[in-house]
Amino acid sequence: AKNVGILAIDIYFPSTCIQQEVLEAHDGASKGKYTIGLGQECMVFCTELEDVISMSLTVVSSLLEKYGIDPKQIGRLEVGSETVIDKSKSIKTFLMQIFEKYGNTDIEGVDSTNACYGGTAALFNCVNWVESSSWDGRYGLVVCTDSAVYAEGPARPTGGAAAVAMLIGRDAPIAFESKLRGSHMAHAYDFYKPNLASEYPVVDGKLSQSCYLMALDSCYNHLCQKYEKLEGKQFSISDAEYFVFHSPYNKLVQKSFARLVFNDFMKNPSSLDEGAKEKLEPFATLSGDESYQSRDLEKASQQVAKPQYDAKVQPTTLVPKQVGNMYTASLYAAFISLLHNKHSTLDGKRVILFSYGSGLTSTMFSLQLRDGQHPFSLSNIAKVMDVTGKLKSRHEFPPEKFVEIMKLMEHRYGGKEFVTSKDTSLLSPGTFYLTEVDSMYRRFYSKK
Ligand code: ACO
Repeated sequence: AKNVGILAIDIYFPSTCIQQEVLEAHDGASKGKYTIGLGQECMVFCTELEDVISMSLTVVSSLLEKYGIDPKQIGRLEVGSETVIDKSKSIKTFLMQIFEKYGNTDIEGVDSTNACYGGTAALFNCVNWVESSSWDGRYGLVVCTDSAVYAEGPARPTGGAAAVAMLIGRDAPIAFESKLRGSHMAHAYDFYKPNLASEYPVVDGKLSQSCYLMALDSCYNHLCQKYEKLEGKQFSISDAEYFVFHSPYNKLVQKSFARLVFNDFMKNPSSLDEGAKEKLEPFATLSGDESYQSRDLEKASQQVAKPQYDAKVQPTTLVPKQVGNMYTASLYAAFISLLHNKHSTLDGKRVILFSYGSGLTSTMFSLQLRDGQHPFSLSNIAKVMDVTGKLKSRHEFPPEKFVEIMKLMEHRYGGKEFVTSKDTSLLSPGTFYLTEVDSMYRRFYSKK
């Protein structure tokens, strides 16, 4: 199969949100900490009506309908998520309700889990399936769905919620350069969910930042080495048009890109202009560990990287800044921002993506974009996703109400025998929502 990759994409996020500026004031954080310090603008969250299952039902139905895909044409369905509702029954099996109705139960695939990386694992599984001898000619479908919620404290503003669906096949406008990939996997306790009675993670924020940056360096190194073997020349930032990062909060994305610039400098100082070289030279002798600790290096490299950040990264930041961390969906929501902003101008361009999941697993990989044929064209994908419309139709909540909803969700987590308010006034038509969890913990959903 040629040009295997993503044919179509759609995204769904709840319409309920809170402005970071408002949350910052409510939490008693210093002014600018969440907005400038973390680089976040707004955060979306699930109310009692929505969860990872309802969001994925919504996004899958929407994708099939808007691109005119016959549900019988799906041969593999993979879900990435780290939001545990059931320790055995996969989210994928809930999604089978959509396909059973059309008589299609012949669909491989289950859920993949490792923090924010599960979506990437699911995506690779589907791409590999289409490239393999077990492929039966039908489409793959990948769903990334998460509700990111944290206990009260410094991590709370880095929450968010969304589901992304991606249709996988050949002759795709967004094709994988499968040979151009680098992974870094290791054992770390930076962010994990050992308490099965709580939806909240245990998180060592500072450690998670340095694990992320170390994984980034390692993946970039592996990717560069593979490129050099294949192409017989060095890889540098100038070999890709855009860089897309897993985005827990925007400040980490700024730091990540600056880190890649520093990597290029260390590998080949002459790839940077004189002014940039001069600013980075004082850090050339730092050891690896020292380089992660150095605030001066962080500042200098961010300053040097700024013009390239504006060109190669800024267009990928809209949805993550407005919606928050969407865990498995976060990287793909950043990529969606790029498609939304640049659509058909991406024809012929290479885009590099970096996926990170705490614990830890990470991969950097490469995509080649082409305009493609309707309905699978970059411009049609941008139109179908309607990012502007979805962002505009959100409803802002005051912080007291947000906190109250978080408390209710804490109480409901893992619970049974309750019905929800079924008040769908804030949901867009076509949105699935939770109506009831019965005495056997069985969950029931309706569609608005
Ligand atoms: N104005 C402007 N900037 C400010 C202000 C202010 N008033 N106050 C603080 N800042 C800056 C800080 O200088 C810092 O920026 P810097 O890193 O460039 O120096 C930034 O705001 C954050 O401030 P910290 O004091 O470092 O924040 P804190 O430690 O309280 O929390 C953290 C931040 C660790 C990211 C926390 O939100 C967290 O734990 N989040 C969850 C973990 C996470 O997302 N990790 C990322 C990878 S793993 C994953 O994806 C889950």
